[in-house]
Amino acid sequence: MSSRESGSGHREAEPQSAATSADVIRAEGLGKTYAEGKLRTPVFDGLDFAVAPGETVAILGASGAGKSTLLHLLGGLDTPTAGEVFVAGHQMSTLSDGARGQLRNRALGFVYQFHHLLPEFSALENVMLPALLGDAGVGDASQRARALLEAVGLGHRLEHKPGELSGGERQRAAVARALVNKPACVLGDEPTGNLDEKTAATVFELMLDLNRAQGTSLALVTHDRRLARKLDRVVELHEGKLRELPRGDV
Ligand SMILES: Nc1ncnc2c1ncn2[C@@H]1O[C@H](COP(=O)(O)OP(=O)(O)OP(=O)(O)O)[C@@H](O)[C@H]1O
Ligand SMILES: [Mg+2]
Repeated sequence: MSSRESGSGHREAEPQSAATSADVIRAEGLGKTYAEGKLRTPVFDGLDFAVAPGETVAILGASGAGKSTLLHLLGGLDTPTAGEVFVAGHQMSTLSDGARGQLRNRALGFVYQFHHLLPEFSALENVMLPALLGDAGVGDASQRARALLEAVGLGHRLEHKPGELSGGERQRAAVARALVNKPACVLGDEPTGNLDEKTAATVFELMLDLNRAQGTSLALVTHDRRLARKLDRVVELHEGKLRELPRGDV
């Protein structure tokens, strides 16, 4: 579903470029070579990848395989050296920095291994922030943030600052923040990588439950095959190629 079809009032001012596909994220012929001075680091080239509406995909791969690089490109946080990324049908490379930022804020949610919550703001304020950066009013942003913090079990910690939350609580707040704009897709880079096994499983299940409830897609980098198996699809990044893993191989 394109954002224009969502019927949600605050999403109607999409950047003016033609929506071309039903995939929430699509990469075609994607390549990245880092270049700093004379040092060139080719990471991958010619990758095709797509996430359908509501679909959940795990991205596996050894350390250094390029998983974070891929996620950054899919999320428009970095620019590919080859190929194209489409988010909600919009070709990222054709958008201005401002329009790309708006689309990112509206259509995508990010959860990282480290929570990246702002230390001086409360949990509630942290979750409200992406909504306020969109076009939500304070009342609406606060209502949505409270509902999500309650959904992640932090209804009793609204006024706590990140430093006053446990590791698992901080990650749950980060999950709430990623979902506050009802994104088409959440991108997670080892979102449970810093948590103990039990807390990791809880936060992971929570992300799946919320994604299902909201119909949001999920593309998740993880090292944990047991968690990866719970998603619809598993792909592996290996020696610059992305390959679909059959169920039995995960
Ligand atoms: N800014 C950069 N400049 C140069 N090389 C980089 C840069 N960022 C990453 N790389 C290199 O690109 C390769 C892929 O890095 P990336 O961070 O995507 O790996 P990863 O699969 O996420 O690894 P990990 O599981 O350890 O997080 C690595 O070899 C890394 O050294
Ligand atoms: Mg990484």
